[in-house]
Parts: sequence; structure tokens; C-alpha cells
Amino acid sequence: MTKLSVTINGRAHGPTDVRDALTMNDYLREYLGLTGTKFGCGAAQCLSCVVIIDKPDGTSETSPTCIVPAVSFNGKSIRTVEGHARNGELSQLQEAFVEHFSFQCGYCTAGFVNEGQVLLDRLAKKPVAREDLEKTITEALDGHLCRCTGYVKYHEAVRDVILADPGRYLA
Ligand code: FES
Ligand code: FES
Repeated sequence: MTKLSVTINGRAHGPTDVRDALTMNDYLREYLGLTGTKFGCGAAQCLSCVVIIDKPDGTSETSPTCIVPAVSFNGKSIRTVEGHARNGELSQLQEAFVEHFSFQCGYCTAGFVNEGQVLLDRLAKKPVAREDLEKTITEALDGHLCRCTGYVKYHEAVRDVILADPGRYLA
């Protein structure tokens, strides 16, 4: 057993005794009831299970949770899909996914929300040239599998959010 303390969506959790082999996915879903984080392939291949890690240097990245021990998140600050809406209002990116009908079953959606938000956060700090935007979005979402094949609509939704605020996201 190891003590786990982690900040999730701005709220501190722990210290909690957890088994060393407990995955972060099971910790979120079974210990905390945060079932928005999905379990798909269980092999770090589909990325439906990713959460956002907010690093001390102000940058963010996503990480799978299905095969990663919960204890490896000790001391970290993470965001899950439950953390994007504010006061019952969806984030701009979530709204765009709805407007574009990007998802059908929705199993992959939490992963796309988290990945797309990391991209938006990154571009807000380091804007990209318009001519590089399509490639930038494609690379950011690469690896996220959608069995309902929403890839184009996810891409278009992310692009719409960026183009709606070019002064923020584009160089
Ligand atoms: S469930 Fe984690 S990558 Fe597929
Ligand atoms: S919406 Fe069903 S897997 Fe993507």
C-alpha cells in the first residue's frame, strides 16, 4: 500500500492508502465515482481514458490512466472531463463537439475533450500560424480512436473554436 494525494479538478484528494497496482482509471472510477473517464482498450492504445496533467511549469499534457498506477500521480494536479464545465455551462470546446455532432456513443469523447483542451491551452500560450493549423490539430488528436468514426467532426469542432478567437490562438 502507498499513500496517494492528488488534486483533481482543483480539489485535493487524500492522502489515501491505495494498492501499488491500482490503476488511475480504477482510482477515479471506483474510489471517487468519476466515471467520465472511460476504460476502453486497457492497453494505452485508444486514449479514451486520458486525463490532463497540469505541470508546475504551467504546461499541460494528457496521460492514459488505464495502465498507469494511481500512485504515479501522487502530488500531481490533474483535470478530468468532469472539470471542464463551469456552473453547469459546458466549455466552449464541449459546446463545439455538441454543435458538430462529433460523437455518437460518446465513449471516446472525454479523451477528445481533454486532448482538445490541452491543445487550446497550448496555443493560447504559443499561437500557431494559420497555415499550420490543420496539421497542428491533426497531430494533437492523433492516436485517439473513435469507433463511431467522428474524427472529421472532432477536428472541425476544434478548428471552429480556434478560428472563433484568432487573436488568441493564431500567430
Ligand atoms: S483505455 Fe486507456 S488507452 Fe485505451
Ligand atoms: S463516439 Fe463512439 S467511439 Fe467515438
